Amino acid sequence: MLLKTNTQSTEDMNFLHIEIGSAKDNQKSPVHNWYKFTAGFSYKFVEEIILLEKLSQKPNSQIFDPFAGCGTTLVSSQKEGVKAVGNEGQAFMLDVIKAKLNWKISKRSFDKYLLLIKDSLLKKSKKLDLNQYAHPLLLTLYKDEILKDLYIVKNTVNSIKAEKYRLFFKLALSQTLHKVSIHPIAVPYISRNKILSNDKSVWEVFSHISEIMFKDIKELKEKESTSKIYLHDSRKPNRYIKNKQCDICITSPPYLNNLDYGEVSKVHTHFFDITNSWNDITNRVRKKLVTGATTHYIESDFIMADFLKSDFALKNKNLIPELVKTADTIKAFAKEKSGKKSFHLLTLLYFKDMYDVLVEIKRVLKRNGTAYLILGDSAPYGVFIPTTEILGRIAKNIGFDSYEIHKIRDRGTKWKSLRFRHSLALTENVLVLK
Ligand SMILES: C[S@@+](CC[C@H](N)C(=O)[O-])C[C@H]1O[C@@H](n2cnc3c(N)ncnc32)[C@H](O)[C@@H]1O
Repeated sequence: MLLKTNTQSTEDMNFLHIEIGSAKDNQKSPVHNWYKFTAGFSYKFVEEIILLEKLSQKPNSQIFDPFAGCGTTLVSSQKEGVKAVGNEGQAFMLDVIKAKLNWKISKRSFDKYLLLIKDSLLKKSKKLDLNQYAHPLLLTLYKDEILKDLYIVKNTVNSIKAEKYRLFFKLALSQTLHKVSIHPIAVPYISRNKILSNDKSVWEVFSHISEIMFKDIKELKEKESTSKIYLHDSRKPNRYIKNKQCDICITSPPYLNNLDYGEVSKVHTHFFDITNSWNDITNRVRKKLVTGATTHYIESDFIMADFLKSDFALKNKNLIPELVKTADTIKAFAKEKSGKKSFHLLTLLYFKDMYDVLVEIKRVLKRNGTAYLILGDSAPYGVFIPTTEILGRIAKNIGFDSYEIHKIRDRGTKWKSLRFRHSLALTENVLVLK
């Protein structure tokens, strides 16, 4: 049986526009545009929810984001002077968020470190042997001279002791990586069939990005820091966030669409020495995230009997037969289309993980708190899955009183490995849990 969904719209949400689930708005907004993130959503969504919930008039109110991403919720909250706390599972993204939340950068130190970096490039270590030093993937994405300069800047940035300046320039360097590569990187994956035109040096690009970031901060007038971020897997309780600490949750979870965040960030994680290989990406990145891609698990490790004994299965008995049936349908469709991906398992594992995150959201929220989640429905091998509605039903099983689904837009699908693209109408929605 294929699952169906219903959407509804209310006056409260009439600010929703078709780009609210994408990062398009963020490209024009200071600080939000410091890091180009494929999976981001609009900062305007956060601003609207803050208004809707009148959080600026409730001085001790707090927002929770269990999937902080590039920090959209946390940055917007800080801009609005509202307290917020978030978890992010990727170490690299944590540094990006920390840099975006740190607005106390002095002109004197900024100039001092920028000069230090410029000097290091002028002196250029002749000893830097790229073949010994550089990750093989990076050798294929940058011209040698460019890559040498990138490593020189990285070494100098890493030598900065003051964390806030180190992370500020690290973020500028991570954006430089995008601008000086031969092919576009992380869009969401490396596009080797496209060539970027760039005639600027690493220094020109890096210093330009740094200056813009500095100017953005000065315009924010050193507002107090009101947001906090933890490197944490939201499938588990974060002991630094108390029970009922937050009033509102604003987030966008990974979608059930096979996007592998480990792949998306691998140029950066290899460059910044967080990972070095496929195994590293699995152990240091994928394992700490909600199962959102078939690369997150080994198919033969899945044991249905264990799955049926999991907390998720035991607490969602009204859903499991439908889910298992849907998984079987996906498997049958895959066979028919000679598809090799185990999307049937991905579906089961995704909801199992999202159950754990919803439990954590429920724990962190006050009794009368509300969660707002931006989410897309899915269609693995052409089998429609109303992801939004299923998560709403799971939330009810966990103890939320009710859920509402507000449609943002219809959307196409990008199931990369789909041989024959389906023509199902999918939606992107806001799931409201009360
Ligand atoms: C859709 S993105 C979030 C987009 C984000 N709200 C924004 O606009 O910046 C999902 C993020 O959740 C993170 N993530 C996935 N699973 C996680 C987990 N179990 N705990 C914490 N973060 C996780 C991913 O690394 C990714 O950065």
